[in-house]
Amino acid sequence: MTKVLIATDKPFAKVAADKIKGIIEAAGYQAVFLEKYTEHQDFVDAAKDADAIIIRSDKANKAVIDSAEKLKIIVRAGAGYDNVDLEAATAKGVVVMNTPGQNSNAVAELALGMMVYVARNQFNGSSGTELKDKTIGIHGYGHVSKNVARIAKGFGMKAVTYAPSKNPDDIRKDGVEVVDTVEALYSQSNFLSLNIPAYDRNKKSINYALLSKMPANAMLVNTARKEVIDEAGLKQMLSERKDFKYVSDIAPDNAAELKEMGAQVFFTPKKMGAQTSEANINAGIAAANQIIAFIEKGDTSFKVN
Ligand code: 3PG
Repeated sequence: MTKVLIATDKPFAKVAADKIKGIIEAAGYQAVFLEKYTEHQDFVDAAKDADAIIIRSDKANKAVIDSAEKLKIIVRAGAGYDNVDLEAATAKGVVVMNTPGQNSNAVAELALGMMVYVARNQFNGSSGTELKDKTIGIHGYGHVSKNVARIAKGFGMKAVTYAPSKNPDDIRKDGVEVVDTVEALYSQSNFLSLNIPAYDRNKKSINYALLSKMPANAMLVNTARKEVIDEAGLKQMLSERKDFKYVSDIAPDNAAELKEMGAQVFFTPKKMGAQTSEANINAGIAAANQIIAFIEKGDTSFKVN
């Protein structure tokens, strides 16, 4: 029987897990869940006889891929697939897919929610600031960014983006201004929503030189990946510019040091951008259906390797 392993250190909401199980079983496959595992070896062991794997941020590295003799497909139920060893998968003929857009509203709502929370001094009762009439810079313009722009406009913010790989005319249709340089984006953004993937070219690209262009009282909100931040540069910026705030859903490696800056930083206790029932249902169902379409019909839509 075709075995689909759902390996989620951070489990899907029960309602989503039940739907995923139902879809997989209706196709005549077996659904096996490995949730909240503490050792990566548990994932390696569970993958051994899997034909297909659904993951979230779980590390589908070479050890997992090489041990899974029957493995045909890995679907990352979400957007970023930097947690999958694409080279190892390709070498073994394993197809890797993501489910773009399925959890993007949840991430965007968290980005704006954290902006309000920190702009209101973490609800400590003191006088904060509003989002209305401020400029929000949106770095990158994928599915999350589109949702950030939509919600930001509801707050009465001016939305501007830098997204060189996207068609500017399409972006302008969303009522978002487009600038030609990343420096132009950062220099006018009171709030900056970081929504770029952890591609090699983006790693450590958010550095001191760029951050120091931000206006007084600016706030950088990262719901993307910690790897895109140059952490030494961020620390320098926070030390020199006491008006600057850094808010992130993915705590940096130097989180303990940065927390000494007090209210200048805020990190969620665990990455929770996509932690909603709706996002779990959307991404989980898409992942299950993509596996079935691939195994039954060879459909490789959303293949990333
Ligand atoms: C994604 O890339 O889709 C998001 O970062 C969500 O990741 P998660 O599924 O681990 O919450």
